[in-house]
Amino acid sequence: MDFAATLEGFKNNTAEVDDRFCRDVVKGLSRTQKELPCRYFYDARGSALFEAITRLPEYYPTRTETEILRSCAEDLVADIADGDLFVEFGSGSSLKTELLLDRVCGRVVYVPIDVSEAALADAIVRLAVRYPELEIRPLVADFSDLAALPGDLAGQRAVGFFPGSTIGNLAPEDAGRLLSRFKRVLGKEGQLIIGVDLKKSPVTLVRAYDDAAGVTAAFNLNLLTRINRELGGTFDLASFQHEAIYNSEAGRIEMHLVSRRAQDVKVCGRPFHFREGETIHTENSYKYAAAEFRALAAKAGWTVKRVWTDDNDLFGVFALG
Ligand code: SAH
Ligand code: AVI
Repeated sequence: MDFAATLEGFKNNTAEVDDRFCRDVVKGLSRTQKELPCRYFYDARGSALFEAITRLPEYYPTRTETEILRSCAEDLVADIADGDLFVEFGSGSSLKTELLLDRVCGRVVYVPIDVSEAALADAIVRLAVRYPELEIRPLVADFSDLAALPGDLAGQRAVGFFPGSTIGNLAPEDAGRLLSRFKRVLGKEGQLIIGVDLKKSPVTLVRAYDDAAGVTAAFNLNLLTRINRELGGTFDLASFQHEAIYNSEAGRIEMHLVSRRAQDVKVCGRPFHFREGETIHTENSYKYAAAEFRALAAKAGWTVKRVWTDDNDLFGVFALG
């Protein structure tokens, strides 16, 4: 299999992508509360740093979801029919996916979708070696823009997989819209297996997003490194500091980059001023009570068929149909 060629056909136009990145960054930094879209975390280094986060002792979501998936994998694959598309949104390393692919690899077409070309490339090389019989149709795309699956994939019976609580990185209204979009993309008989991080003690949450080793800080700051490299930014990394806070009213962890001093920065040739202590809001990670997520999914047109949680109710896996 020629992996480079496989990915090549699915890549975005680089000039268009840079242009959108520039517009989004200028727009975000022009707001009273400066902000940057979190999907830009995931360049090659950002994806590698996220993988390092998933192995941190403080970051409970990945190991908890993995344990839940391990325990319910047989039930989850029971509804996957021969020839179905198995479509993963924000697939990243596709590591957890192996728990399901182990059971269906000979009879599905796997469609991993991610904005990170580097993460997709690494994942498909590993999966192609592990599952020589698996047909893989990778797609470098923003899942929020997806109107339908491309080409011959459109209209086929599809089961969606959206693990990692990536849904939590959208505000609830946007999350609802995304779930409705996925319903359209996956079709009338579509199903969706989705991982959702549940509400819990703010202390546990803040530790998970501000780890002792500083990996999450590096992940957050890498967004400025990416802007410097790709958009001619002049951010001085040492002048910004990672911050994670729990906003209990909104039910979300917020990540910010705090300016340590008053300073001026250029991005895409435009000047931006920062006051001392001013922040760039870089990510929200919403946490749901199981009942809240059920209501969100139902409003988006899905039926909640089954929910699995761990013994400590840290994380939920929802089967929607
Ligand atoms: N599913 C994996 C990875 C989660 S990290 C897991 O559960 O561990 C979030 C992943 O979603 C990253 O790989 C990131 O590149 C991707 N991502 C984030 N926003 C995206 C978007 N709008 N469209 C497509 N992929 C996105
Ligand atoms: C991908 N996403 C669900 C992660 C989260 O937990 O919100 C991203 C992340 N941000 C900081 N740590 C991990």
